[in-house]
Amino acid sequence: MASRSFELRAHEVHVWTLDGSASKVAAARFDPLLSPDEKERAMRFRFDHLRHSFVVTRGVLRCLLARYLNLHPAEIRFAYGEKGKPALASAADIEFNATHSHGSALFAFAKGCRVGVDLEAVRPTAGAQDIADRFFCPEEAAEIRSLPPGERERAFFRCWTRKEAYIKAIGDGLSAALDGFRVTVQPGEPARLVHIAQDTVAAQAWTLDDLAPSAEFAAALAYRDRRRSLSTFAIDDAARLLDAP
Ligand SMILES: CC(C)(COP(=O)(O)OP(=O)(O)OC[C@H]1O[C@@H](n2cnc3c(N)ncnc32)[C@H](O)[C@@H]1OP(=O)(O)O)[C@@H](O)C(=O)NCCC(=O)NCCS
Repeated sequence: MASRSFELRAHEVHVWTLDGSASKVAAARFDPLLSPDEKERAMRFRFDHLRHSFVVTRGVLRCLLARYLNLHPAEIRFAYGEKGKPALASAADIEFNATHSHGSALFAFAKGCRVGVDLEAVRPTAGAQDIADRFFCPEEAAEIRSLPPGERERAFFRCWTRKEAYIKAIGDGLSAALDGFRVTVQPGEPARLVHIAQDTVAAQAWTLDDLAPSAEFAAALAYRDRRRSLSTFAIDDAARLLDAP
């Protein structure tokens, strides 16, 4: 596949957005790109829509990485961290992370720094305040509670996605203590890590950004560097990534 390649500069972060649920037809086109272990994982999904979503998301991730690395998508080799974070098995210095929710997905790419991304559909969630009280920092939970009722749901997901982007960047996932670091929550306040284990200087080594794919979603990006130039790209038709150029 002689496809147009993408260039990622050291001072940049690229985020790709993919909307819409994955069809059986799309999954059939991406399936040949997957490795045997990915195909085996796909087969373990009991619901078709989840299997199709996994295949298309993983296939799109392979296609995007292939364009950055000038490889065929099937040549990409993944290695997995202790908590399952995928990374490139080769020495290439591109770091990436992916997230999916209700048929949409985000993919983030950066050179030479850890990156994490999270996407959540903003939806009524029973016990959201209880979850915040139990797992978030007391200050974050109090900030959510202090908001007018109509703003609390979005604030909860704003807090959740900012926190999950960070724990995905460090690779720990939900094994990390969510009250071990604090993020900003108030509407209108820029996304920021306030402290990591009470250390505000350590927090300053990180950049947090909100991504706004649409009004129905909350999404955040975290990376360990001072603020970089952020470019976002929409994938209108995933299958076109399979076409050259
Ligand atoms: C990472 C995690 C927070 C993602 O939660 P989620 O909101 O359900 O999923 P998202 O859609 O945001 O992200 C999923 C993607 O993140 C990536 N990912 C998986 N594990 C990850 C980790 N530990 N850190 C960062 N990213 C991870 C993968 O690309 C995954 O996509 P895939 O499921 O198609 O392979 C959650 O799966 C988790 O906590 N995992 C760790 C579990 C663990 O401790 N395992 C130990 C034994 S392996």
